[in-house]
Amino acid sequence: MKSIGSRITLWYAITLTATLATLFIAGHYLLERYLVRQLDELNENQFKHLRAVLGQDYASLTPAVIDERIREATESASSMFYTDMHGPMTNRFFRSSNLHGQSIPDIVGQNIYSISVDGVGEVRVGEFLLRPFDVMVATPLAPVRDLMAGYRRVFFGLLLLALVLALLIGYGLSELFLRPVRVIQETANRIRSDNLTERIPVGNVKDEMSQLAAFLNQMFDRLENAFSEIRRFSAEASHELKTPLSLMQLHAERLLGDDTLTEAQRDSVMVQLEEIGRVNHIIDELLFLSRADAGAVLIELAQQSPAAFLGAFAQDANALAEYDGKHFVWTHTGEGSVSIDGKRIRQVLLNLLTNALKVTPLDSGVSMDSTLVDDRWRISIVDEGPGLTTEQCERMFERFVRFGNAAGGDTRGAGLGLPISRSIVKMHKGRIWATSRDVGRGLRVVIELPATQRA
Ligand SMILES: Nc1ncnc2c1ncn2[C@@H]1O[C@H](COP(=O)(O)OP(=O)(O)OP(=O)(O)O)[C@@H](O)[C@H]1O
Ligand SMILES: [Mg+2]
Repeated sequence: MKSIGSRITLWYAITLTATLATLFIAGHYLLERYLVRQLDELNENQFKHLRAVLGQDYASLTPAVIDERIREATESASSMFYTDMHGPMTNRFFRSSNLHGQSIPDIVGQNIYSISVDGVGEVRVGEFLLRPFDVMVATPLAPVRDLMAGYRRVFFGLLLLALVLALLIGYGLSELFLRPVRVIQETANRIRSDNLTERIPVGNVKDEMSQLAAFLNQMFDRLENAFSEIRRFSAEASHELKTPLSLMQLHAERLLGDDTLTEAQRDSVMVQLEEIGRVNHIIDELLFLSRADAGAVLIELAQQSPAAFLGAFAQDANALAEYDGKHFVWTHTGEGSVSIDGKRIRQVLLNLLTNALKVTPLDSGVSMDSTLVDDRWRISIVDEGPGLTTEQCERMFERFVRFGNAAGGDTRGAGLGLPISRSIVKMHKGRIWATSRDVGRGLRVVIELPATQRA
């Protein structure tokens, strides 16, 4: 069970119901024992009554007289007691008429017991010695059993009620206990790298919860410090790197204007300029990523028609593909508009397109399919390159990840295009993933964006 609240509720309900059930079971046992004892006492009293009726000289009476005397004294109460009296040789002296000819079974070695008699039902038997006779007096157990059955019905009803009540109370209690936790959770959830100044409200009561909130707030203080350190570092580092790079670029460009340079020297300067351009680009991308991580990159959402947006992109895509000696085709289905930051999504599509063009063989093509259904805009870019394994498809969105591909191609990328694309897609609350179209043939990269959203 995932939530503490439901666990508290459940444990509370179990404990309460189990306690009640134990009490009820104990009550059941004690009550039943008490009632059966009462029956035993009744049996004993009835025996005493019989003994009195028989008188002192009972041993010398004939069976007929005994029968007559007992019958006179007991038949009035015959519905309540069963009497069975026999002599030493099981010759019967008296058997009450309500036994309907049955005798009460004798359990050897026991003189108080419960037993079932055919045609009579369950009875409680008391066996008494009245030498030379053996007198058995029995009372029906049915009233006790009925009472206990009623007790059980009430008990189960009450137990069910108790369970429902315990669940309700448990739920209420858990809500009460967990309210501070919820407040902490909500606030902590709101506190992100872009709003590190918010703090969890700490109550006046000094309990474990307020202590926890205070500790978390201290942690947020430290995090805020660390984050501003990192941001300052990134900004300063890029500044520190960019200035010398610009100077290097400036000097290299000035050198190019020098007529005395040999061809080889000129080539070398050109290479330097190219590398400087690359490093500049990487620094810009890294800066973008660290700012995006810090939540400092804002996206400007605007309603766009996907068909028009992709149409404009396709013009550039066609030109790029043609330049590489490859084709580009695209389709779109679905009506409606999408709310996106056009410049950034274009950047993502360009990243994906350049990756796809890099691996697609000459005279082959890259295709882009877009669908807008149910408020989801999905664009997939499919190439005809060598594709990637499932594991590579997961890893390719990580920073600086590049796979030397069999098709050769331009392996000089920084491995930052896809991480940037992913962070832009995330800013749009969308997803990006890749699957190999067929094992070892072509890659399909899919972007899925919610069509409508707030900035
Ligand atoms: N369509 C594709 N087919 C096969 N491999 C791909 C494809 N797209 C990307 N990759 C692999 O994923 C790696 C990472 O791609 P990513 O775009 O992040 O970096 P890059 O293209 O190497 O460099 P950058 O985009 O920063 O210039 C690539 O180096 C390449 O090995
Ligand atoms: Mg790339």
